[in-house]
Amino acid sequence: MHWMTIFVILNLQVPVWGNNIIVILVDDLDLTLEGMQPLQNTQNLIGQQGATYDNCFVASPICCPNRASILTGRYQHNHNTVNNSISGGCNSPQWQRYSEGKTFAAILKKKMGYTTFYAGKYLNEYGSRAAGGPQHVPPGWDWWYGLVGNSKYFDYSLSVNGTARTYGHTPNQYLTDVILEFQSLEYYRKLLNVLQKQMALSFINTRSANSVPFLMVLAPPAPHEPWTPAARHNDRYKNQKAKRTPNFNTQSQFDKHWLVRMGPSPLPNNVLPTLDDIYRRRWETLLAVDELVVGVYTALRNTRLLNDTYVIFTSDNGYHIGQFSMPMDKRQPYETDIRVPLLIRGPGITPGSRVKAPVTSVDLFSTILEMGGTEAISDGTSMLNKNISEDRSVLIEYRGEHSIGTPNSGCPTDDDVHLSHCDKKYECKCQDSTNNTYACVRRFSEKNNNIFCVFEDATKYVEAYDLNADPFQMNNIAYSMHKGKRYRFRKRLKELVKCEGVDCVRTHR
Ligand SMILES: *[C@@H]1O[C@H](CO)[C@@H](O)[C@H](O)[C@H]1NC(C)=O
Ligand SMILES: *[C@@H]1O[C@H](CO)[C@@H](O)[C@H](O)[C@H]1NC(C)=O
Ligand SMILES: *[C@@H]1O[C@H](CO)[C@@H](O)[C@H](O)[C@H]1NC(C)=O
Repeated sequence: MHWMTIFVILNLQVPVWGNNIIVILVDDLDLTLEGMQPLQNTQNLIGQQGATYDNCFVASPICCPNRASILTGRYQHNHNTVNNSISGGCNSPQWQRYSEGKTFAAILKKKMGYTTFYAGKYLNEYGSRAAGGPQHVPPGWDWWYGLVGNSKYFDYSLSVNGTARTYGHTPNQYLTDVILEFQSLEYYRKLLNVLQKQMALSFINTRSANSVPFLMVLAPPAPHEPWTPAARHNDRYKNQKAKRTPNFNTQSQFDKHWLVRMGPSPLPNNVLPTLDDIYRRRWETLLAVDELVVGVYTALRNTRLLNDTYVIFTSDNGYHIGQFSMPMDKRQPYETDIRVPLLIRGPGITPGSRVKAPVTSVDLFSTILEMGGTEAISDGTSMLNKNISEDRSVLIEYRGEHSIGTPNSGCPTDDDVHLSHCDKKYECKCQDSTNNTYACVRRFSEKNNNIFCVFEDATKYVEAYDLNADPFQMNNIAYSMHKGKRYRFRKRLKELVKCEGVDCVRTHR
């Protein structure tokens, strides 16, 4: 390992660095189905040595819209990326024109002179021809290894600073591992160069320690479909079954919105082994992520950057497997899908702390900017702010997707293009539809723990749950709750779906 030599050389010098920031953003990782279980090192090295956020919610339970929220600190109704298609704003010309120049990377680069680095999945439509192809390198990024398209483990292309490079399916082309290689080899090699220059400079200029801090985003594909573990992790969880939560594979729940009610509920027994298989393979893909976290941690320790570096670990959205007899996906307003893990370590963060205050993906933007010593208006609040309210109501928005083209899944629903994600493998249970469109207010405080959602379907269906009394959301109380209470929820929701900037921040409290 000749990299060890690099680390040894680096160890001779103890530079005064600014705060570096590393964001590890995984794809589709749940919190409620114990998705953190395979990530033991991640829990220890980031969570135990930093803060674990127990109540982090997404702005939208779907990849592209929530990634856009993370990057810009804006809710879906403000960044206008409403689904995973270019026509829905995903990496669209409009996104590139109005939002992409205002991401936390662009700001840290422009205002604070950060060196920036991105490796892995960006936005689902990244690299497509209609969006400028892989030549398009989003503003703000110096080192760019953006994955073309949606998550994949093998046989993918990366845009390497604007030039497509294709990868095959030999074991060393496993994307999570490739991301780890990039950060350890190329980045630290560059750091060494910077450092050598600084060493030289310091002869001349004793106070040249104006070193360049870095921002790095590492976005592995795990545990997204097609759930391909690294060969070394195959069958590691062979006997693991999908979690049989109390809401797993329930009978028809007549108090849920129509898509869930559509059935079949429960799913027939022959579908369950497939769900078990998905569950365990997701876990197996996460083992390479856990190794990536160890790799990053070790590199930081060996370069003595650990004390000056924030490391954030989170996911773009949650996931369900079998809850309310929905086979497997996100896109639903339930805890499985809207709750994500969030761990942060770094300067000033008390090791082992647990944060109960509810936070949202839109808060990450302000948080990252504060870590970098700057700020900008967004729809969220920095989590480093000790005054962050313990009683907040955050917004969750989702725009249902229809089928792209004419579906030929062989399901009876094939003539209805409003439905999508229907699959024979799951008894033709459809997982999305145009009117699976909703907005929810999610409140959490010492006393309150509830959600109130309104669907944009013909009946304006409402679902509400008291999660203190009913953590598995078995009992929709929308139509039985006190009128005054329902009125207050509706009012708050109405404000949130229109809010912008400081307005949102105020309405959260
Ligand atoms: C990508 O661009 C950065 C910044 O200009 C540069 O330092 C790095 O060497 C480039 N990487 C490759 C593989 O060309
Ligand atoms: C990092 O901080 C810890 C705790 O404050 C301290 O014990 C350690 O020596 C520091 N390490 C470096 C490399 O500065
Ligand atoms: C995505 O959103 C756009 C804009 O609302 C819409 O035209 C498009 O059909 C949507 N795509 C899907 C797959 O639903």
